[in-house]
Amino acid sequence: MAPKTANEIRKSFIDFFEKKQHLFVPSSPVAPQDDPTLMFINAGMNQFKSIFLGDNPKRIKRAANSQKCIRVSGKHNDLDEVGRDTYHHTLFEMLGNWSFGDYYKKEAIEFAWELLTEVWGLDKNRIFVTYYQDDAEAAELWKKVSGLPASRIMPFDEKDNFWEMGETGPCGPCSEIHYDKGDLSSQEDLYNHPIKGVNGENDRFIEIWNLVFMQYNRSADGTLNPLKDKHVDTGMGFERICAILQDKRSNYDTDVFAPIIAKIAEFSGVAYLPDAEGMPHRVIADHLRAVSFAIADGVMPANEGRGYVMRRILRRASRYARQLGQESAFIYKLVPLLSELMGDAFPEIAARQDFVSQVIKAEEDRFTKTLGTGLDRFAKIVAEMKRSGSKVVEGEKVFVLYDTYGFPSDLTRIIAEDEGLSIDENGFEVAMRKQKDRARAARKTGVDIADEDGWNKLNHVTGTKFLGYEAETAPISISRYRKEGDDVYFVASETPFYAEAGGQVGEYGLLDGGDLQLRVLDTTKINDSWVHRAEVIYGLVDDYTMAVEFIAIVNAEARVATKANHSATHILHAALRELFGEHISQQGSRVDHQGLRFDFSHHSALNSDDLKLLENKANEAIRANYTVETKIQDLAEAKASGAMALFGEKYDEKVRVVSMSAFSIELCGGLHVNATGEIGVIKIISESSVAAGVRRIEAISGEAAIEFNQSQEETLKKVVGTLKTKPDKVLHRVESLVLQNKLLEKELERLQQQLANQKMDSLLEKVEEFNGIPILIHSFKGMDKKEFASMVDSMAGKHKGVALLTNVDSTSGSIAVTVAKSLTQRVKAGNLIKEISAIAGGKGGGRPDRAQAGTKEPEKIPDAIAGAKKIILGALA
Ligand code: SER
Repeated sequence: MAPKTANEIRKSFIDFFEKKQHLFVPSSPVAPQDDPTLMFINAGMNQFKSIFLGDNPKRIKRAANSQKCIRVSGKHNDLDEVGRDTYHHTLFEMLGNWSFGDYYKKEAIEFAWELLTEVWGLDKNRIFVTYYQDDAEAAELWKKVSGLPASRIMPFDEKDNFWEMGETGPCGPCSEIHYDKGDLSSQEDLYNHPIKGVNGENDRFIEIWNLVFMQYNRSADGTLNPLKDKHVDTGMGFERICAILQDKRSNYDTDVFAPIIAKIAEFSGVAYLPDAEGMPHRVIADHLRAVSFAIADGVMPANEGRGYVMRRILRRASRYARQLGQESAFIYKLVPLLSELMGDAFPEIAARQDFVSQVIKAEEDRFTKTLGTGLDRFAKIVAEMKRSGSKVVEGEKVFVLYDTYGFPSDLTRIIAEDEGLSIDENGFEVAMRKQKDRARAARKTGVDIADEDGWNKLNHVTGTKFLGYEAETAPISISRYRKEGDDVYFVASETPFYAEAGGQVGEYGLLDGGDLQLRVLDTTKINDSWVHRAEVIYGLVDDYTMAVEFIAIVNAEARVATKANHSATHILHAALRELFGEHISQQGSRVDHQGLRFDFSHHSALNSDDLKLLENKANEAIRANYTVETKIQDLAEAKASGAMALFGEKYDEKVRVVSMSAFSIELCGGLHVNATGEIGVIKIISESSVAAGVRRIEAISGEAAIEFNQSQEETLKKVVGTLKTKPDKVLHRVESLVLQNKLLEKELERLQQQLANQKMDSLLEKVEEFNGIPILIHSFKGMDKKEFASMVDSMAGKHKGVALLTNVDSTSGSIAVTVAKSLTQRVKAGNLIKEISAIAGGKGGGRPDRAQAGTKEPEKIPDAIAGAKKIILGALA
């Protein structure tokens, strides 16, 4: 009996290959940890890239799994198709089986045929296979194994039948299996059609499985180099095979998506229609999966890189939710159901369900606000265009709306059309391309050692043996190096330098080769190779000088401090969980010789009492002087013993476990102290928010913590000295000084007012009368702005007629007019000031009884005064 439900189908695939001696390897996280050429995992083979390139330390021969893949960027990008057709997705599962230098084409084809037709009972009349046009061997094998007529074994060129992971990397000819979901009576007429047939763009002939025969590595200059061994890499579209085995027209009708779509209909009250109108339901159901798994694997929505792509996808989904009438956060409500559906096969989603929905909700809330701001911004653009009479929204503006406010261009197009405007599609494309180039440039900065070019090879050793757990100094030999400007990159067969991993930064130090001395600036790791970046202290870099045995010397002082900070990080992690709950898990960390930064999931800020508790608990663990033990264990065994593993981190079956008695047990490859007492002391410096639901603690330890306390104490001493008091009295003294200061300020204000009143009284003596109305005109020089303002205030209160006061300094002038309330029917201060200040090149306005203006041309104030009398009298006449 063929399996029916999605979970049964997945299991049946894995069981089949396990019976054929394949090792089940769990799906790796969707964000590759160690491949700078890749934004997201886009194929099941990604996690085996280094094995294909010749590095198979565990000598695995066969493997199988279901891998979470995301194809929304780079060489494989399906985003535009999602929701429109029935079979493309942002995140999909790829069922795969692999041979690493073991079986090749024959068995790969036999296994595929047996599973599809014997185990799952697919109708052979619906199956077509394709092969690379130069691969006659594959065609021959298919004929023999399947017995399909030659016309259904179809050749295609490299566009369809030569598979490549990206611009560089392992690749080879492939053979695909396609399935006809249509009416068999019209098959004969259609299958050869370039669009409606096999390999066309249609919902009928669907590619279900790709068998790649890996035999080359594509280098950066485009050349193909044969691999040492030949391998098999297959990938089957899980959601597609579910649709076939469940006899559904569309992937969205299978039990992978249907329950989610039903929930969307229930929550929104909008029924699902499997045609164009159902697009919002399909897009939301699809995007929910990509975003949730990305977050569960440690990708947080952000303004760059992977987080940026995720933010865009979530916003796309949000926009469709609005089409279903959902104005506030909606998508996060679907996470529990997703976890229920997929949590067995992918435990990471079940384990992080709450966190994932919190992050999605926060992001949706933010987007709702942004959308409002974006609409305002668009309204401004429209207003401007109406004024200038233009009808086409500039491409750059469409891009800004897209980039900053998350408005996809089709949304901008729709709202522009409502206003009778169109958008400059070309200009938008150009702006988008520029952005993509920037993103690509940012990605290219990693030094990829799989790329053979530019590396001078000194021997054939691949990978690096790390000696740093035991040694700080060691003789090493370099296996390859390359020069880039002043930088020299090298890979050594063995090294004591720790390479950046698990938050701990790469180490630096010296490399002494007699005639050549290098300063190692940084160390990183790509797969199993340690890449050191160095600069020359003296000597020449060439194949001869680099081939000698070097003495590598790690900077010992930095190592001691870094070790203490790394162990301190484990202690803080354990103490946080003990004090505030098991939901706390590490979201990121950075450890170097200066201090540590630790990000963790937690719903609210820690207050100063919490921080004190935390610091105390951490320092207790230091005083307990736990021995720090490391051992290598099976992953399952380590997890069973309660070791904390990081989400989104891919672990080998053998892992390194670092424990400090039962207080802290973590999987970690980093460097640590021998006993916690060596840390000396932990001091927390700050606590802050990094993202919704994620807090950050910064701390220091050992000598740095002592120095920090000493400098705090020094500052305190200076304060005590300046205030001429004692340390235990200083707080009281500061408090009373602050109070005293406040009182003095009040007193000063009162005196200023008094002074202003006195001045006012003497001013009022200068009043002249015109037609019975007292008019006062007076100018001040360089009066403090506040004082001038209070002069104007009391003038407005006391003077029974019209007054003009000015105040000038060297660069500016102020003019004020007051009019007694009884006169404001006849003349308004606001009108007078406009006319008067215009003479002095200034601008101003105000109320009928009081108005003020400023000018940057103080030299014109006398003219204004001269003109003022006429203006005032004119107004009163
Ligand atoms: N790598 C191939 C693909 O992605 C087969 O797994 O199609």
